Amino acid sequence: MAVLVTGGAGYIGSHAVAALLEKGEEVVIVDNLYQGHRDAVLGGKLYEGDLRDADFLGKVFQENDIDGVIHFAANSLVGESMKDPGKYYHNNVYGTLCLLEQMQKAGVSRIVFSSTAATYGEPERVPIDEYDRTLPTNTYGETKLAMEKMIRWFEVAHGIKFVSLRYFNAAGAHASGRIGEDHQPETHLVPLVLQVALGQREQISVFGDDYATEDGTCIRDYIHVSDLADAHILALERLRKGGESAIYNLGSGNGYSVKQVIEVSRKVTGHSISAKIEPRRAGDPAVLIASSQRARNELGWSPKREKLEDIVTSAWDWHRSHPNGYEK
Ligand SMILES: NC(=O)c1ccc[n+]([C@@H]2O[C@H](COP(=O)([O-])OP(=O)(O)OC[C@H]3O[C@@H](n4cnc5c(N)ncnc54)[C@H](O)[C@@H]3O)[C@@H](O)[C@H]2O)c1
Repeated sequence: MAVLVTGGAGYIGSHAVAALLEKGEEVVIVDNLYQGHRDAVLGGKLYEGDLRDADFLGKVFQENDIDGVIHFAANSLVGESMKDPGKYYHNNVYGTLCLLEQMQKAGVSRIVFSSTAATYGEPERVPIDEYDRTLPTNTYGETKLAMEKMIRWFEVAHGIKFVSLRYFNAAGAHASGRIGEDHQPETHLVPLVLQVALGQREQISVFGDDYATEDGTCIRDYIHVSDLADAHILALERLRKGGESAIYNLGSGNGYSVKQVIEVSRKVTGHSISAKIEPRRAGDPAVLIASSQRARNELGWSPKREKLEDIVTSAWDWHRSHPNGYEK
């Protein structure tokens, strides 16, 4: 039996593929390589193609004995989603519909889904737990919430069980040093800060230093990408054992400010990283921290690399050895 990983050539997907292979799982990967990289796929069978191509995806299900799906494939740039909502509904929502239809056809009834903290929008309280209000403030988060809801209705009608994992900020790289983060364009704080240390960027922009936080900059919850990968395997195991569908936050529960990330990066890299204070960006909540208690209790998950310094060191090892990311 094989696990189908959609978006398995992308950042988090490739780490999940690596973790599945380490567990001895048979892995099938579908990625259109829009953001993904062939070199990020450390093993398994890679099919290059788009989820929205029914003939292509149907063939993948026909040719392989798939018992569960881990669904990473999506577009995930908040800014772009606000300028081009159609692209996000088409790829994320319609793409997921195409996947669910093929699963239904093939009789595959387990899916682990990449959701996001962006489904909550402006939090009512921190740490955020899974029962809190979901009111996305951008199209990206809205499409992810729509995808979650769609999967839920496929459960009601067709018995497809799901675990939806709402991640906070993924960072870091695989311990082997072979895979890491390479997005074009890059929008995530840790790699952007490290690009300054590499001399590829003059300075890091800090959007707002007048938030109601200790140092005035936004606080986020960083989670190591390999800890995320482990949670996907535990989620799949839960479904294989007949566990009920569920939604879990995945974060470390620790908040770090933008200034703290820069400070830790200075220490880790030994470079003076120049920072520039810019105006606030619309829609950035001051503090986003996850309560992952439910994932800890019900999945038996616990992040192993919680300290920001360890996460930044892991990312730095990758960026230093791959200053231009994967070979293009
Ligand atoms: N990176 C984060 O901090 C973060 C946080 C919360 C949620 N997420 C979610 O996790 C998932 C993975 O994030 P990531 O950072 O690894 O993104 P990524 O862009 O690196 O990976 C997504 C992969 O999916 C592929 N893809 C996209 N649309 C496709 C389609 N229609 N058919 C086939 N392949 C397709 C891309 O080529 C890419 O390889 C995304 O769904 C994202 O929304 C990420």
